[in-house]
Amino acid sequence: MRNTPLKLTVHSMVIGITVILTVFSNSSWAEKDNREAIVLDDVNRTFILHEMRQNVSGLQQAITALSKDDMKGAASALRPLGMQSMANIPPDLMSTVPDGFMQIGMPLHLAFDKIADAAGKGASTKDILSSIGVAMNRCVACHTAYRIEPK
Ligand code: HEC
Repeated sequence: MRNTPLKLTVHSMVIGITVILTVFSNSSWAEKDNREAIVLDDVNRTFILHEMRQNVSGLQQAITALSKDDMKGAASALRPLGMQSMANIPPDLMSTVPDGFMQIGMPLHLAFDKIADAAGKGASTKDILSSIGVAMNRCVACHTAYRIEPK
């Protein structure tokens, strides 16, 4: 007796696996890195990458604080990611990076200050998380557009 449903299932599985293999074999990330390279000397590169790691650690602390509805803790974790993080910027960094880099990055610092202000004024955990989610689109956008290469 013919078992049509089973045949169909096997058939769809074969198609499914073929599609998956095709998609994955085409996604070799090394080949597809179309991000614009920003060539930076050691001082500038070290500064930016240090700032990036501070982003991760500040967000980690903020999320941990938010999980306890600790708004003061969230505010003080986010504040260092605001404009104050530009205080020690190497003098030639701004003129070295592409305009687009600054256009994505600067509003992110301003956003973190605003979010820290809101958390300090007792905004809800949900609102703060929502604002962080929106702000982090800039992390994603910039990482999609640029990479750094040592000089
Ligand atoms: C204005 C652009 C820009 C923004 C905004 C940005 N990044 Fe980055 N980030 C970069 C670039 C460029 C690199 C280097 C990537 C590469 O060379 O592959 C990087 C690297 C990193 C690294 C690796 C650091 C290391 O030591 O290698 C981390 C972690 C990181 N970013 C986190 C974040 C987080 C979290 C945010 C948002 C809060 C963020 N970044 C926002 C541009 C940006």
